[in-house]
Amino acid sequence: MGDFTELNRPFAPHDDQLAKAERAVADLAAGRADRWYPRFHIASNGGWINDPNGLSHHRGRWNVFYQLHPYSAQWGPMHWGHVSSADLTTWRREPIALAPSIEAELAGVFSGSAVTGDDGRLWLYYTGHRWRNGVDVADGNLEVQCAAVSDDGVRFEKLGVVIDNPERLKDFRDPKVWKQDGRWYMVFGLRTGDERGEIVLYTSEDMRRWSFDRVLFRHPDPDVFMLECPDFYEIPAPDGTTRWVLCFSAMGTKPDGFMNRNANNAGYMIGTWEPGGAFEPQTEFRLWDWGPNYYAPQSMLGPDGRRIVLGWMNPADGSPTQRDGWCGQMTLPREVTLREDGDLHTTPVAEIDRLRLDDVDHGSMTLGRDEEREVLEDAEAVEIDLTIDLEATTAERCGLKLHCTDDGGYVYVGYDDQTRRVVLDRQAAGVGERGYRAAPLSDGELASGRIELRVYVDRGSVEVYVNDGRQAMSAYSLPAAGRRAVRLLAESGTMAVASLVTHRMGSIGLE
Ligand code: FRU
Repeated sequence: MGDFTELNRPFAPHDDQLAKAERAVADLAAGRADRWYPRFHIASNGGWINDPNGLSHHRGRWNVFYQLHPYSAQWGPMHWGHVSSADLTTWRREPIALAPSIEAELAGVFSGSAVTGDDGRLWLYYTGHRWRNGVDVADGNLEVQCAAVSDDGVRFEKLGVVIDNPERLKDFRDPKVWKQDGRWYMVFGLRTGDERGEIVLYTSEDMRRWSFDRVLFRHPDPDVFMLECPDFYEIPAPDGTTRWVLCFSAMGTKPDGFMNRNANNAGYMIGTWEPGGAFEPQTEFRLWDWGPNYYAPQSMLGPDGRRIVLGWMNPADGSPTQRDGWCGQMTLPREVTLREDGDLHTTPVAEIDRLRLDDVDHGSMTLGRDEEREVLEDAEAVEIDLTIDLEATTAERCGLKLHCTDDGGYVYVGYDDQTRRVVLDRQAAGVGERGYRAAPLSDGELASGRIELRVYVDRGSVEVYVNDGRQAMSAYSLPAAGRRAVRLLAESGTMAVASLVTHRMGSIGLE
């Protein structure tokens, strides 16, 4: 281990930094407006949040930490906020876990992960963030990996820097740690001197002293200069073997048709890996989520062996919610499984069903050519399960208008027979971002003659799961004032609804 005395020097007492941050969040929360504040998605009480961090199950509780700027609803010097849950259904707020307090973290405590250590305590690994010129980002960042540890999973003691950045690379961050065959492993992302995105692998025997193992993966696209928030895990395949999933949030990708439409894009490759080797991809890069607002997902392994992932809903260019004292929410926790079709599916964890307050079965029905039909008069927080019989449908587009307000605003989710995709279109969105995205359907899905859409509408967002999580799409949707109706719509033809069930959704307990 190097000499990190300088970097570990406190510039402020950590407890003072935490207390100040708590007061700032409480002030923002006191003035918060709730028109778009989520009922069943994780968000901060007040302030700005981004990436999920430190996802873990420790001493019977699920932990979700997250990047938090407590002093305004804009991005700023990062802290780690924290919520926990006994049942993955309802959550409680925990004290802010980390605030910048040592030289290595002068400009923030950046993203990272959590593991239960060999000592049974909860260990956090995260990036200490500062700048090369000491003042601003003009000459690039200067980042190192740090650790902190806790007995109760709530109050953390900082251990300081564990991995230095001797070449002073401009981006060098987001450690994800796991244990395998008696060894500790860590991946993180970096930008090489020649501006290429790489994921590196480090190993450790004792969780404190880490050594460089190898470059696990170098992105082949020369435009991609940084791979943020890598994640790497083994997943069972239906044939009884396993595969490795390499996840990252790529910076520098260029849009290509329907792919990579977001500024930065979060996805994965499936392949193989053995300790002592590099990752061997067997697939191309695939998106986790085809919506406009998904980024920096992180996963955890539950005690029951489930692989659970949460993503940050990243507003493309600021958000009108910033006027309300908060910004940013997570997607629902999703279970990741590798299926017979050779791809990963993500479905909301089964525990989410416990939030249903009722079951309303609207039955089957046929909409006439260009017919629009209201199914819910005012839906603040709902799940909608819609199965469309494509064989009996002649419409060119058919689906749902969500967050329909009396001023004519809405967000559209449906099947488009011209592109043979599921579209999420915010052309008529009430407030904020517009534009559309389109998720693919495989030949097999199209041949089945049916499409199943599971749609979650929260106060300020829409999440769509296509055919049991074969694809997912997340988007902010910020309706104008007044009631928020849900309508079915068939365009240029008729629509055969095989089934339609809706549920009002309860609160996860964080409002
Ligand atoms: C991804 C990211 C991470 C970084 C964090 C800072 O959204 O840029 O790479 O650690 O956010 O908030």
